[in-house]
Amino acid sequence: MYGLVNKAVEELARGVAGDEGWERIKLRADVREVEFVGLTAYPDELTYRLVAAASEELGMPAEDMLAAFGEHWVRYTAEQGWGPMLAAAGDSLPTFLIGLDSLHARIRLTMPALAPPSFRCTDVTDTSLRLHYHSHRDGLAPMVTGLLRGLGARFDTPVGVVHAVRRSEGADHDEFLVTWP
Ligand code: HEM
Repeated sequence: MYGLVNKAVEELARGVAGDEGWERIKLRADVREVEFVGLTAYPDELTYRLVAAASEELGMPAEDMLAAFGEHWVRYTAEQGWGPMLAAAGDSLPTFLIGLDSLHARIRLTMPALAPPSFRCTDVTDTSLRLHYHSHRDGLAPMVTGLLRGLGARFDTPVGVVHAVRRSEGADHDEFLVTWP
C-alpha cells in the first residue's frame, strides 16, 4: 500500500503510544524505514505487520486497531492535502458513499499503483443504505466500520453501522447496514 497509509498508522500510533512506543512498534514489526514516503508503494505485508505490532504494543484487539485507523484516516487524509478531493466527493454521507469508487479512481491518477477497494450502495432510503465492500485484501472490514464513523464525524451525522454480512464467515464480500437520522 502507498506510504500514506503507513504514515497514517504512524501518526495514530505516535499519538497513543508516544515516540518511544512507535519505535517499539517498528522494532516488533521488523520495519527498518526511518520515514515512509507518501507516494511510494510499499508491500501490503509491511502495513499488516505494523498494524499487528501496534495492536500488541497497545494491548488492543486488531479489529479495534483497524477501526481506530479507519476513523483516523478520514481526518488524516483531509489534513494531508486531500481535503479538496474529499470535499468534491460529496456533501452528505449518502452522496459521498455512492461516489466512493469515483473518489478512488481520481486518487489513482496521483497513485497509479493503487489497488483500491470497491464499494456499491443498494437499498438506499432517506435514512439508510446497504454498503457492499469488495477488496483484493483480507481482514480489513473492521477498518470500514471505523471509516464510516469517521465520515459520520466529518458530516456531523451520528451514524449507525451494522456489519451484516462477513467475508470472514464465507460470504463473497462484506456488507454494512448504514443508518443516519
Ligand atoms: C482522499 C481520501 C483518500 C485517499 C487519498 C485514499 C487512498 C487510499 C490508499 C492509498 C489506499 C491503500 C491502497 C493501495 O495503496 O493500493 C486506500 C485503501 C482503502 N481505502 Fe481509500 N482513500 C481515501 C478515502 C477513503 C475513504 C473516505 C474510504 C471510505 C470508505 C476509503 C476506503 C478504503 C479502504 C477500505 C481501503 C483498504 C484497502 C482494501 O480494502 O483493499 N478510502 N485508500
